[in-house]
Amino acid sequence: MNPTTNIAIRAARQASNVIMRSFSRLDSLTVSEKQVNDYVSEVDRNAENAIIDIIHKSYPGHAILAEESGMHGKGDYQWIIDPLDGTTNYLHGFPQFAISIALMHRGRLESAVVYDPLRDEMFTADRGGGALLNDRRLRVTDQKGLKGALLGTGIPYRDQRYMDAYLGMLKDLTQETAGIRRPGSAALDFAYVAAGRLDGFWELGLSVWDFAAGALLVEEAGGVVSDIRGGSQHLETGNVIAANVRLHGEITKTIQGHLPDGLRA
Ligand code: IPD
Ligand code: CA
Ligand code: CA
Repeated sequence: MNPTTNIAIRAARQASNVIMRSFSRLDSLTVSEKQVNDYVSEVDRNAENAIIDIIHKSYPGHAILAEESGMHGKGDYQWIIDPLDGTTNYLHGFPQFAISIALMHRGRLESAVVYDPLRDEMFTADRGGGALLNDRRLRVTDQKGLKGALLGTGIPYRDQRYMDAYLGMLKDLTQETAGIRRPGSAALDFAYVAAGRLDGFWELGLSVWDFAAGALLVEEAGGVVSDIRGGSQHLETGNVIAANVRLHGEITKTIQGHLPDGLRA
């Protein structure tokens, strides 16, 4: 395993201590709304600081992009951190949230960690080294098409501009698959595609920290991650599809019928 992935694991465990300490006293947390329907708590900030401390100590020359505190430094190496993915779930006591940490080198993902503290599931990937859940190697499913597939998604709840287009996609994909799930943590949704628990996933309007680690997990588990038109701009646009190669093609085809003008790839 890359030393950087080991540091990310250590940082994720430290953040998980912060997150789990407060999970039994959610009522006493200070919560604020960053923008409509976008909540942040002291837990998000404290978990993020814990991660940044550990990364800074080991790699003082690396840049860091973190959801709550933005950019720190610059350089060829950049860490991308979501200290608590699934904040809305967390604040409601809904047990689906994770810590997501990725490392990029000159725009290429190199290390990925997504940690689910409730289930003690550590999803990790190194570029070229495969993806693991704890010690078990991960592989996307070989689901051949939409019929019988279980897909994950995220329903837009902040930016509603493309709601109708999204609902069109949801309708078609609901009718053509075995079912759709909206668990509420994009980082875990990607990890579940890598682990074969979901056959595929799509969402519009994600931020890079939601799925940078997840994207490498899926790729290293043999899957494909693309933007909404099948290209490679997803880390910039946040509009993303992930699945095995064949299913990815089917999802992409179905979605094309609903892409409005103005929606970036
Ligand atoms: C959110 C979750 C959610 C997705 C949202 C994200 P946050 O992250 O990943 O599943 O639908 O778009 O913003 O705000 O809980 O870190
Ligand atoms: Ca997130
Ligand atoms: Ca977050």
